[in-house]
Amino acid sequence: SGFITLDRGFKNTGSTKSAITFLDGENGILRYRGYPIEQLAEKSTFLEVAYLLIYGELPSQPELDKFLQEIRIHTLVNEDMKKIFDGFPINAHPMGILSALVCSLTAFYPESVGDMNPEQEHLSIIRILAKMPTIAAWSYKNHMGHPVNYPKNRLDYCSNFLYMMFALPVEEYEVNPVIADAMNKLLILHADHEQNCSTSTVRLVGSSRASLYSSVSAGINALWGPLHGGANQEVIEMLESIKADGGNTNKYIEMAKNKASGFRLMGFGHRVYKNFDPRAKIIKKAADQVLTQLGIKDPVLDIAQQLEEAALHDEYFIERKLYPNVDFYSGIIYRALGIPTNMFTVMFALGRLPGWIAQWKEMRESKEPIGRPRQIYTGYTERNYLGIKERK
Ligand code: CMC
Repeated sequence: SGFITLDRGFKNTGSTKSAITFLDGENGILRYRGYPIEQLAEKSTFLEVAYLLIYGELPSQPELDKFLQEIRIHTLVNEDMKKIFDGFPINAHPMGILSALVCSLTAFYPESVGDMNPEQEHLSIIRILAKMPTIAAWSYKNHMGHPVNYPKNRLDYCSNFLYMMFALPVEEYEVNPVIADAMNKLLILHADHEQNCSTSTVRLVGSSRASLYSSVSAGINALWGPLHGGANQEVIEMLESIKADGGNTNKYIEMAKNKASGFRLMGFGHRVYKNFDPRAKIIKKAADQVLTQLGIKDPVLDIAQQLEEAALHDEYFIERKLYPNVDFYSGIIYRALGIPTNMFTVMFALGRLPGWIAQWKEMRESKEPIGRPRQIYTGYTERNYLGIKERK
């Protein structure tokens, strides 16, 4: 009833009040709970940032110890979940496995639907934080046709994930601290980004009082799309095909400018950042560092730099304020860390998890009503039913 405003893509609609993440797209500012992303990426750890996002403050030492210990004791997934996992074909995309298994947690913990007491809610949060890396690493093992590794709880969060991903029963595996540190930084940079597509999905699904697991699973599916988190896989694939095509970056810049081509420069542009993406700046620097530390020379890094250089001086990109976004350089680091291309968006999901949890929790605590947008109807006015023989 009344007057309905149309805002396709919600370009100018606030869906909620939130005290979690501050984002100023004109000036390239991103802060979690007031702390600049640059400081957190430099000094913090991923689980400390998760605590900050979810509970609002950086933890004291005893608070952090308790949080880490709680996560540690929940890293196993129910053995029955392995039967679901075993049913996936070997070429299944890890994002499909991740969303299915995360959603299945609702079936394993049915008390997580609807109203929960504070302990139950806390347990949902701990469980999903603890189990996602296990499920994510297993989704890769499925793809490789390798046996899964059970978590090793003496390892920290990132090292444990790397161990579950890469250790094989046939040889010793030591986590490289350079790789674990780089992963820690990448996860922090992805940890929240206010009301983006996947987070809005988590809030919308959660607003029906669906479980945290179902809400996050919906967020994983939203993230998978190539215009959102799926862009990090697309970027590397694009850079590789440019390389295979002789490295002619100008040809691809021209293609991206021609709408009829249907080609977009993946990793460029952002709904909110119209100056630069502060995460992209940090990631570009980290990519240089990590490649040097690991002694890797990746030719697609040169292609990426040439593309960026060309785009930053091109009228089309300048006019539309299109800059490299977080996904543009992250794939280059993931690749240097040995993460396969089809796992890039899974890494994004692991990073975004604390943000999804924090936003889901805030939505419940602020007693947000069920999300239910309206529409402007453009279909037929009333008409009469015709029997099948009377139809044309
Ligand atoms: N290459 C070429 N042209 C582009 C690009 C691009 N990557 N991005 C936007 N444009 C053009 C677009 O065609 C439009 O032109 P015009 O005004 O002439 O019609 C103008 O720039 C504005 O773009 P829009 O599509 O209206 O902007 P949006 O806010 O709806 O979309 C976006 C934002 C991120 C979906 C888009 O920039 C895009 O598709 N980028 C490539 C995919 C990508 O890198 N996604 C990752 C986003 S960052 C992290 C994340 O969410 O995962």
